Amino acid sequence: MSVATWEAPANIAFVKYWGARNLEEAIPRHPSISMTLSSCVSRTTVECLAGAGADEVWLLSEGGGAERPGGTFEGRVLDHLERLRRHAGRRERLRVLTRNSFPAAAGMASSASGFAALTLAALDALGVETTPAELSELARRSGSGSAARSVLGGYVEWPAGDLESCHAEALARAEHWDLRDVVASIQDGPKEVSSLEGHRRAPTSPHYARRLELVEGRLREVRGAIEERSLERLGPVLEEDALELHLVAMSSRPPILYWAPATLAVLARVRGLREEGVVAWYTMDAGANVHVICPPEDEPRVARELAAVSGVRDVIRDGVGPGPRRLEEPLPGPVPGESG
Ligand code: DP6
Repeated sequence: MSVATWEAPANIAFVKYWGARNLEEAIPRHPSISMTLSSCVSRTTVECLAGAGADEVWLLSEGGGAERPGGTFEGRVLDHLERLRRHAGRRERLRVLTRNSFPAAAGMASSASGFAALTLAALDALGVETTPAELSELARRSGSGSAARSVLGGYVEWPAGDLESCHAEALARAEHWDLRDVVASIQDGPKEVSSLEGHRRAPTSPHYARRLELVEGRLREVRGAIEERSLERLGPVLEEDALELHLVAMSSRPPILYWAPATLAVLARVRGLREEGVVAWYTMDAGANVHVICPPEDEPRVARELAAVSGVRDVIRDGVGPGPRRLEEPLPGPVPGESG
């Protein structure tokens, strides 16, 4: 097989990965648990090219345009291709075409879905068969550690592991519990301080050691809440863990402040909604956006209410999903003349 196309979703963590024992290899200091999403996906085609030359990376846009991303992102993709080629014991030159289903300007993290889709498509194009554990290990080694969780569907735990073995595992299938994620998109464009830099600074926070003590109990609660399908049990832990990530970020040296004024307005609205009887709990990644987790029946109201908060640019409605899938149709390649 010399060309393959895969779709992989983003994921939202209930207990966040924050801080690494080995940042280059993305070996986390503590386990994390996430829900794989359904609609926010990256689609990637990898093609083995004949002849000598450099690998190619193309970012496709909704309008059909194609551009070379350049910069750190392209460098990371090229490094990952080299890693996967070595793993496969092959030498072919590769061409990558990739596109996100969600607008880049929505400020949604796309690296987990992007590197998961890249790993799946490249290994498939290179004709390598992998176990789910190997796949998760390889996605993790892209450096975007949360990609280790995006190769699986439903509810996923990524134990801390070590250099020998560090991969995510399925906790429950998507059908086990239909939860929705309504995202209040507040920030457009990339965040000022990357997650990578956040992981690096985490141990400089005086609160980080305490987080490491508390996280085990929180993981137990989240596993139990998923098993019982109890949002009343999950919600408080979800909010506590997200706030703690930001507490650590804000007290790191130098400090990182990811929030915007609208972030706080959304948090207040979610608390207000709960007082009005709506089941909704928030979480936030390393950025200003807020993810609101709710049951299907509350999703329309939550989406309406978030859209009405001043400073919210867009509302994205997503929910738990079954994980990556192979696509038969390759993405359309760059048109001639754009191949510089
Ligand atoms: C806050 O190192 O996986 O989202 O490369 O930007 O995807 P990206 O970040 P990564 O760290 C993720 C940090 C987090 C929490 C989480 O998803 O667990």
